[in-house]
Amino acid sequence: MAHMIVAGNWKMNASKSAVTELLSGLKDNVASVSNAELVVFPPFPYLAQAQAELMGTGIRIGVQNICAQDKGAYTGEVSLVMAKEFDVSYVLVGHSERRALFAEDDSQVAAKYVATQAMQLTPILCVGETLEQREQGRTLSVVNGQIQAVIDAAGGASFAHAVIAYEPVWAIGTGLTASPKQAQEVHRAIRDHIADVAPEQARGLKILYGGSVTVASAEELFAQADIDGGLVGGASLQADSFLAIGRAAK
Ligand code: PGA
Repeated sequence: MAHMIVAGNWKMNASKSAVTELLSGLKDNVASVSNAELVVFPPFPYLAQAQAELMGTGIRIGVQNICAQDKGAYTGEVSLVMAKEFDVSYVLVGHSERRALFAEDDSQVAAKYVATQAMQLTPILCVGETLEQREQGRTLSVVNGQIQAVIDAAGGASFAHAVIAYEPVWAIGTGLTASPKQAQEVHRAIRDHIADVAPEQARGLKILYGGSVTVASAEELFAQADIDGGLVGGASLQADSFLAIGRAAK
């Protein structure tokens, strides 16, 4: 298994033709990426297309959100059972846009994390502080608090089957990236926090950095000791830039 993960969160950006172009660009040049597992997170309507196009390429598929319930009267929701039919491997849980715009709280995020693991899929737990929280010196307490909610619900050992994405809210979609030093400091603190309850799982845990990752910033970020890849938004919408970020994983 590749040491690094480079994941592309397309958010609510896609059309049939754009997806066709992006997936074919990825397929054609995926061989140029040798040290990262690539994962794409299309919006739900494009899962079938992604499944068909990516079969046999080694590029994995994830979903941006999920309902913790299996089925039933949950208008507008999509279940893990459904996602699994499209060869989905990863589920983003607790992305800051879900937390901020759709009022997802720590307990809902933890429920989604637990449900995802129960279906043998891998949650990517997203955590991160706002600018205000950073300026108040609360970065580590906010991030560790978000992680603690999951430890309380699922236990530290659950991190054997999970990935964390540290995404400072102030860096998402803003063009501001945490410096490699700032990011490394938080990644290290996250690993230490989990090591308190699950040292072995903490050592093997992949912690991705997200927030305006670009081709220019990726290499130095990925070179940090506790950064195991990236969760990429804007730069994942073009095959060329996404693959170049994949190649920055050494
Ligand atoms: P960005 O998004 O790379 O466009 O900042 C990252 C994310 O929200 O996952």
